[in-house]
Amino acid sequence: MKVLVIGSGGREHALVWKIAQSSKVEKIFCAPGNAGTADLAENINIKVDDVAALLKFAQEAKIDLTVVGPEVPLVLGLVDEFAKAGLRAFGPIKAAAAIEGSKVFSKKFMVKYDIPTAQAGIFDNAHDAHEYIEQVGSPIVVKADGLAAGKGVIVCQTKGDAHEAVTQIMEKKEFGVAGDQLVIEECLEGEEASIIALTDGETIIPLASSQDHKRIFDNDEGPNTGGMGAYSPAPLVTETLLTEITNVVLKPFVFGMKQEGINYKGVVYAGVMVTKKGPMVLEFNARFGDPETQPILMRMKSDLVPLLDAVIDGRLAGLAIDWHEKAAVCVVLAAKGYPGSYEKGDPIKGLENIQQIADAAVFHAGTSRQAGQVVTSGGRVLGVTALGDTIKFALDKAYQAVKLIKFKGMQYRRDIGKKALKYEK
Ligand code: AMP
Ligand code: GLY
Repeated sequence: MKVLVIGSGGREHALVWKIAQSSKVEKIFCAPGNAGTADLAENINIKVDDVAALLKFAQEAKIDLTVVGPEVPLVLGLVDEFAKAGLRAFGPIKAAAAIEGSKVFSKKFMVKYDIPTAQAGIFDNAHDAHEYIEQVGSPIVVKADGLAAGKGVIVCQTKGDAHEAVTQIMEKKEFGVAGDQLVIEECLEGEEASIIALTDGETIIPLASSQDHKRIFDNDEGPNTGGMGAYSPAPLVTETLLTEITNVVLKPFVFGMKQEGINYKGVVYAGVMVTKKGPMVLEFNARFGDPETQPILMRMKSDLVPLLDAVIDGRLAGLAIDWHEKAAVCVVLAAKGYPGSYEKGDPIKGLENIQQIADAAVFHAGTSRQAGQVVTSGGRVLGVTALGDTIKFALDKAYQAVKLIKFKGMQYRRDIGKKALKYEK
């Protein structure tokens, strides 16, 4: 079969890498892809938000299965448009993707279906938002309603910071219409985990657990990013905790969607804070996490393609996923300046050296090929990912691989996975 993967990040390179191992697949396209996907797939120069052009391409190339990586095409209704044209696309429909596309919708949904989440206020004017901050005090979290490329959530230690966040998002409209509404919520304390599951609207199959590292600097300092590294499994997520999360988060999620008349098919990603009071949902995403997908897919033994097909056809019941017992770690190499502005076009050296290290792979994110050379073209540039018997071994291997790669201004966290080590003897 012919598969089209939409997106250009580390997640999409990992998806292409995994799908390429399927005996069912004869050809993969990636739109727009990066220098890494180009080695395994044919890159097609169409942007992820150009749904009409993607549809035209998929029809002409007779694509059997389209896998959507990022949230933007889901929120734009790509899956709906493809279905109307008789094409199979993996991911939730537009109405369902609102769970990620609107934090207001998501908060109201969680409250309605009793999914544990932070206490919050919802605002459509700055005056009331400022007043609420004065009432409840700090620390407090200010969230833009709409999509803001992972930058629309500001964790504020002081009331002053929170007022400033309201001004930035709602008054100065730094994220455009995404700031027309705000969710302002209680700041939760605990350790975070990403619970990513497949669902066909009835059956839920959680993928291996994982943990992301959102902040740019070591010790979780500095601003939030798309994610600076991840590991799987997350030892924090014991079997008991996963059962609890399945019961109090994932099952009510699928039930709630059905109640709302939405047939939710695809990935449901719950960003969970494990607090003293139990797991609480920080956000839902309607797609695979990035970078989490990189270590997760490295651990997946099963063929991914039949699972994606089963989701689309509503046949997940009775299926199971096999996992490597080993752990996997991904260290993101980012461009200097990220998550702010950064330079592009710097040559990346040493990529070929990775072959020396068994069970390591470099998933490309912001890379492109210029005059035969791989150069930087985005904020998150590479995801250096490795398997090991334990998280400690996987970490050592990933950092050993990181040392083989160089580009100007390369920055990365030195403490990926550190939190997991306390669970390993
Ligand atoms: P979100 O996009 O909503 O997951 O937020 C991005 C990141 O902001 C999360 O991964 C957390 O690190 C942090 N965050 C979001 N909401 C809260 C909250 N209520 N309390 C503490 N931290 C939060
Ligand atoms: N790594 C966080 C996300 O994919 O949203």
